Amino acid sequence: MANIALFYGSTTGKTETVAEQIQKEFGGEDVVQLYNICDVEDGDFDEYECMIIGCPTWNIGELQSDWEGYYDELDNLDFSGKKVAYFGTGDQVGYGDNFQDAMGILEEKIAERGGQTVGYWPADSYEFEASKALKNGKFVGLALDEDNQSELTDERIKAWVVQLKRDFGM
Ligand SMILES: Cc1cc2nc3c(=O)[nH]c(=O)nc-3n(C[C@H](O)[C@H](O)[C@H](O)COP(=O)(O)O)c2cc1C
Repeated sequence: MANIALFYGSTTGKTETVAEQIQKEFGGEDVVQLYNICDVEDGDFDEYECMIIGCPTWNIGELQSDWEGYYDELDNLDFSGKKVAYFGTGDQVGYGDNFQDAMGILEEKIAERGGQTVGYWPADSYEFEASKALKNGKFVGLALDEDNQSELTDERIKAWVVQLKRDFGM
C-alpha cells in the first residue's frame, strides 16, 4: 500500500493534473495513492498517517463542489496523529480578494479535528489582496495559479515535494 494518500477535487481538471504531477514527483503510485473526493469511501482517510489535500477555490471564496459535498463528513473523522499537507489552485488576478480561500477553509476544519499541518509555503511570489489560506504570513500549503503563473508550477511542485518528504519523515 502507498504511504501517502492524496485527496483532491477538481471541476475543470486543473487540480487533478496537479495532483498527478505531485504523485509523479513523489515517485508514483507506489508512494502516493490518488483519491478523487467524489469517489471516496468510508475508511479511506483512516488508513494513512500522511496525507495531502487538494482543492481549488470556486464561486468567490468557496470550496470546489465535490469538497463542498464532503465537508460535513469531515466532522466524523479523527485526524489526530496524522500529518496533513494542503495544496490549491486559484486565480490571484481574477479573484484576488479570495485567492486560495478553499485551502484555508479545509485546513481550518482538519486542524480542528486534530490534523497536524505540514508544508507551509511562502506567499511572496504572488500578488493578491486577501486569502483565508494565509496564517502568520505564509500559505497553509502550496498555492498554485494555473490561470496566471502556470510556468512556475513545475518548480513550485518540485520544491514543495522536497520539503514535504522531510516533513513526512521520508
Ligand atoms: C466562476 C469562478 C470562480 C472562481 N473563484 C475563485 C476564487 O474565489 N478564488 C480563487 O483563488 N480562484 C477562483 N477561481 C479560479 C479557479 O480556482 C481556478 O481556475 C482553478 O484552477 C480551477 O480548478 P479545477 O480545474 O481543478 O476545478 C474561480 C474560477 C471561476 C471560473
